[in-house]
Amino acid sequence: MINSRTILSILDKSSLSESILSQSVRDISIVKERGLKPSTSHLNVDLSKRLFAIGVGPGSAKYLTEVAKNAISKSRYIIGYKSTLNIIEDVIDRRIQNVTEITMENQEIVYNEIYNEMTASDYCTVPFTGDVNFSESEVVDRLLEIFGDDNVEIIPGISSIQVAAAKSKVPIDKAHVITFHVSGEIECKKLELLKALTDRKSIILLPRPWPKNPVKNFMHSDIAIFLRKNEVDTSNLKVYVYEFLTHNDRETVFQGKVRELEGKYFDPFSVMVIDQVTRKTYLQFD
Ligand SMILES: C[S@@+](CC[C@H](N)C(=O)[O-])C[C@H]1O[C@@H](n2cnc3c(N)ncnc32)[C@H](O)[C@@H]1O
Repeated sequence: MINSRTILSILDKSSLSESILSQSVRDISIVKERGLKPSTSHLNVDLSKRLFAIGVGPGSAKYLTEVAKNAISKSRYIIGYKSTLNIIEDVIDRRIQNVTEITMENQEIVYNEIYNEMTASDYCTVPFTGDVNFSESEVVDRLLEIFGDDNVEIIPGISSIQVAAAKSKVPIDKAHVITFHVSGEIECKKLELLKALTDRKSIILLPRPWPKNPVKNFMHSDIAIFLRKNEVDTSNLKVYVYEFLTHNDRETVFQGKVRELEGKYFDPFSVMVIDQVTRKTYLQFD
């Protein structure tokens, strides 16, 4: 067992190996008691509880990246919704990893409990559908608060909007991307939508399901009615609705005009693309 004197010598001379130092994490408090700042970065030793927030793709495990798989394998703790845990199931080893399924109701308690249970240098992974950087910030921001920015690594994934863009052949750079899948106010986003359409942009959007309070829904039919009422000629506007993207046997596509969405029901698990693309190849530029 390494004693406090050894620890001090490590910090003074930076001479012992990383593995020895990592055994001594518990003794670091002795160093702190002596009023010294334990600088271990030169030894590449991390004494924090670390989090990987990873995107796992929109459904099929085929869209899971190697980087995301490595993060999962490195993690002692995995916390996720049932749908995301299903996507990564083949990468998890439940014999040695502590896997917790969460719901919207208990997530706050679980994040805190696991954070408190983790010891220094433990890794935890929280998987998100699609890309973690798209329409997930309400949860990601909370995790950044709990773990601290410096201890969180965000690993991007393939988003449902990328898959929808690919299927509709609407380039993301020619589209306005909007998520209505948020808890807050969406009136400004509705205006953004109108402005982007007027500017002849295509739209890639996530609708807003709100099962507990349907007044707050902003689903496909609501969107179509909203646009018509705001003088958009929806009978000439091309639209695609994709449900359950990459879920082999469940994936569906509707292709038609926005006007036709009125009164139609689609699953909340869907992406809507309004196509106003004018194609231009490099041959049309000098
Ligand atoms: C909280 S948002 C998460 C978006 C996710 N981060 C992404 O990049 O795709 C959840 C919404 O994403 C959309 N979504 C996610 N995966 C999908 C899929 N496989 N097919 C269709 N829509 C999907 C649905 O609109 C769903 O309600």
